Amino acid sequence: MDNVYQPIHTLKLISENVWIVDGPIIHFYGMPFTTRMVVIRLVNNDILIHSPINLTSSLKKELDELGNVKYLISPNKIHYWYIQDFQKAYPEAITFASDGVQKRSQQAGQSIRWDRELKDIDRDYFPDLEILPMSGNRFMTEYTFFHIPSKSWIVTDIIENFEPNKINPFFRILAYLGGALHPNGGTTRDQRTLFWGNHQLLNKSIDRIKSLSPDRIIMAHGKILDQDIASELNRIFAWVG
Ligand SMILES: [Fe+2]
Repeated sequence: MDNVYQPIHTLKLISENVWIVDGPIIHFYGMPFTTRMVVIRLVNNDILIHSPINLTSSLKKELDELGNVKYLISPNKIHYWYIQDFQKAYPEAITFASDGVQKRSQQAGQSIRWDRELKDIDRDYFPDLEILPMSGNRFMTEYTFFHIPSKSWIVTDIIENFEPNKINPFFRILAYLGGALHPNGGTTRDQRTLFWGNHQLLNKSIDRIKSLSPDRIIMAHGKILDQDIASELNRIFAWVG
């Protein structure tokens, strides 16, 4: 399939010390998803990998030139698949688990050593980052990451923004109906239902991210937002009320 974010498996600079690496299409419950991981260079040249894609030898070389791959992150329990590959390549890296990912990855037959839980990280563990859980979802908690120096908000599935020309017509209709099609991407309707009754929990996180005034939103699936983010946040989370 050609409509991935070419080139894939290579670092693309987004802002100082923040890169994305786009990956191939994966299928989740039959739906084609473009994939993307985020690479952050922290103090001491330590590299944090958010939601890994598959690791190629050329990508490994690029990462090794960038710094010391030290942290591997599963931001929510459905994003863990390639952590296994990274852990083999970087056995010293500290691997952080999202809530429930240990059980889910085990059930999927993956052998991953989970070193720490994201929910237990102290606020000052990563001086460059603020970790914001999207609380209130009855199925899974997604941990989002705000990179303080670049004002980049890194999310996984809480915001999806599929570009029409990247997906087939059938999926385009589904993404449109589901509220995940650019330029009106956001939290999909099925995810919204999982927050029913818990909007006050989610609102705390939304208020916090609004107060941080991000310059861009980097998501795992779809077009990065980098214009007028205050308005985008109001639009995207209008459903929370
Ligand atoms: Fe996803």
